[in-house]
Amino acid sequence: MRVVLFSAISVCSAVLAQTSVGSYIATESPIAKAGLLANIGADGSKSSGALSGVVIASPNTVNPDYLYSWVRDSSLVFKLIIDQFTTGADTTLLGLIQDFITAESTLQQVSNPSGTVETGGLGEPKFNINETAFTGAWGRLTPRKDGPALRSTAMITYANWLLKNTSVSNVVSTLWPVIKLDLDYVAANWNQTGFDLWEELDSSSFFTTAVQHRSLREGATFATALGQDATTYTTQADNVLCFLQSYWDSTSGYITANTGGGRSGIDANTALASIHTFDPAAGCDASTFQPCSDKALASLKVYTDSFRSIYGINSGIASNAAVATGRYPEDVYQGGNPWYLTTAAVAEQLYDALITWSAQGSLDVTATSLAFFQQFDSSVAVGTYASSTSTFKTLTAAVQTFADGFLAIHAEYTPSGGGLAEQFDRDTGVPLSALDLTWSYAAALTMFSAHAGTVPLSWGAAGLVVPTTCLPGPPAPVATVTFNVDATTVEGENIYLTGSVSQLQNWDPTTALILSPANYPIWSITVEVPASTIIDYKYIRQQDGVVTWESDPNNEFTSPSVNGSTTLNDTWR
Ligand SMILES: *[C@@H]1O[C@H](CO)[C@@H](O)[C@H](O)[C@H]1NC(C)=O
Ligand SMILES: *[C@@H]1O[C@H](CO)[C@@H](O)[C@H](O)[C@H]1NC(C)=O
Ligand SMILES: *[C@@H]1O[C@H](CO)[C@@H](O)[C@H](O)[C@H]1NC(C)=O
Ligand SMILES: *[C@@H]1O[C@H](CO)[C@@H](O)[C@H](O)[C@H]1NC(C)=O
Ligand SMILES: *[C@@H]1O[C@H](CO)[C@@H](O)[C@H](O)[C@H]1NC(C)=O
Repeated sequence: MRVVLFSAISVCSAVLAQTSVGSYIATESPIAKAGLLANIGADGSKSSGALSGVVIASPNTVNPDYLYSWVRDSSLVFKLIIDQFTTGADTTLLGLIQDFITAESTLQQVSNPSGTVETGGLGEPKFNINETAFTGAWGRLTPRKDGPALRSTAMITYANWLLKNTSVSNVVSTLWPVIKLDLDYVAANWNQTGFDLWEELDSSSFFTTAVQHRSLREGATFATALGQDATTYTTQADNVLCFLQSYWDSTSGYITANTGGGRSGIDANTALASIHTFDPAAGCDASTFQPCSDKALASLKVYTDSFRSIYGINSGIASNAAVATGRYPEDVYQGGNPWYLTTAAVAEQLYDALITWSAQGSLDVTATSLAFFQQFDSSVAVGTYASSTSTFKTLTAAVQTFADGFLAIHAEYTPSGGGLAEQFDRDTGVPLSALDLTWSYAAALTMFSAHAGTVPLSWGAAGLVVPTTCLPGPPAPVATVTFNVDATTVEGENIYLTGSVSQLQNWDPTTALILSPANYPIWSITVEVPASTIIDYKYIRQQDGVVTWESDPNNEFTSPSVNGSTTLNDTWR
């Protein structure tokens, strides 16, 4: 629906915008809630075929086909549902929550191309909606993703509520085994690379690391409450917190969202991490990148500014006013457009910041966040401003207007009827890509909730101390592979191996591994490689420094699951 932002009559435009935002929230809230529930099986009106408690990403089956259940999306959706239930906002949701827990505990046990429950299968990003494994080749080069972290956070929130009503032993026998699998997975795998939340880059990702830290931190407290051993979770939470700091790029002044991929690193990933790890007890703590922390605000400015000139619908908007935002400026997926959930995330981060400043009764402007605040008042200086000061009032009023602006843009590009797709066209604003995206509905609802000043429960981000030395996590699970290649060679010539993982020297011919000709003409080497991983490789010949590669394409195989072994019998090409 279009929201009238300005009027010819002389009414204060800020007041009018506020009213319009309010009326959008009033009409869109029930639509978003219904849209979200429609996408949950077995009774959801748009999720036909989904089993009980299974969340579909979208009913869209063509360009793109999203009729699958992603662990990430499902967990974010159920975190919202669990928050609504446990805070008493909607007491009708208990049955649905129980269905979700049953569905996810089934999915945990489904053997899939990433492995079994013991050998990496928990890292699988998505499943068929009938709770079978998705066996296509999509997005699984290395699993190890954000799903188990987000799922355990959702379930711990529910379990903490349940603990007030039921015995510890009941929670230990029902929910703990499910939650423990996810926590153990996170503790064992956080230090491995994996696909980012957009399933495009295989590297380390800020969002993933941030939600892993949260899950281990609250997992440790939860385990302790149940009388379980929490040592590993606490140790690894400290290690993850230490690693989390490394994403901050002090030279560029923003959080780099991914360690690989060759992009700017400017990404909605960082705002999403802030809102999904918001802890109202942690103030504006920068080590956990709280929404009002100077680092998160500096990043938010760089992120929002990156869309001002690239989207046609943002043209003509003042340089300090809200704009439509997308995943990252380099995005080309479906044309590279603004997304509803990313624009909502910006508003939500700002509302969370306002909530915290109000609660703590002051606001800090640091050298890091100065540019963020100066866009509203160029004369503002570094300092701490108590809520009684005019600077506090001016800045918070400006941030409120800025935040409402993102909500108003969300409103402006929401079609009549209120359905939320994934994206809206960068030049026309018309909804695009998957329709009725469950995550879009969830993101709208959490934005509305933050606008209303609702705070989530604390999860333990307050008062953490970042270790001075970062220790690594457990080593990557490995499998053993023997490479045999039948290759006839001439005197002085040797056969080497290189490929797509560090154990195969990342395609570097100068450090490629030499094979043994003990069973000539079979050349052979046995190597430990990452388990359950798609690996590309080639053999090369070298003589007197001259390198000859095998012909294309690359050889490719999926390595065995953890501690497994296999032998590959190749012939030189
Ligand atoms: C589950 O869904 C997949 C994908 O639609 C389908 O190929 C498979 O046959 C279904 N399996 C069962 C047991 O229904
Ligand atoms: C929790 O306890 C309250 C009060 O004792 C009771 O009314 C409610 O039914 C309980 N809920 C559950 C899920 O046990
Ligand atoms: C593993 O942790 C160490 C210590 O924090 C860090 O230097 C390294 O980059 C991490 N690697 C990955 C892939 O997480
Ligand atoms: C794999 O081997 C290591 C080292 O022996 C062992 O600690 C680990 O438990 C094994 N993992 C599995 C899943 O068998
Ligand atoms: C390669 O050959 C060995 C025996 O020489 C055999 O055990 C192994 O299964 C073969 N590998 C494949 C992938 O066929």
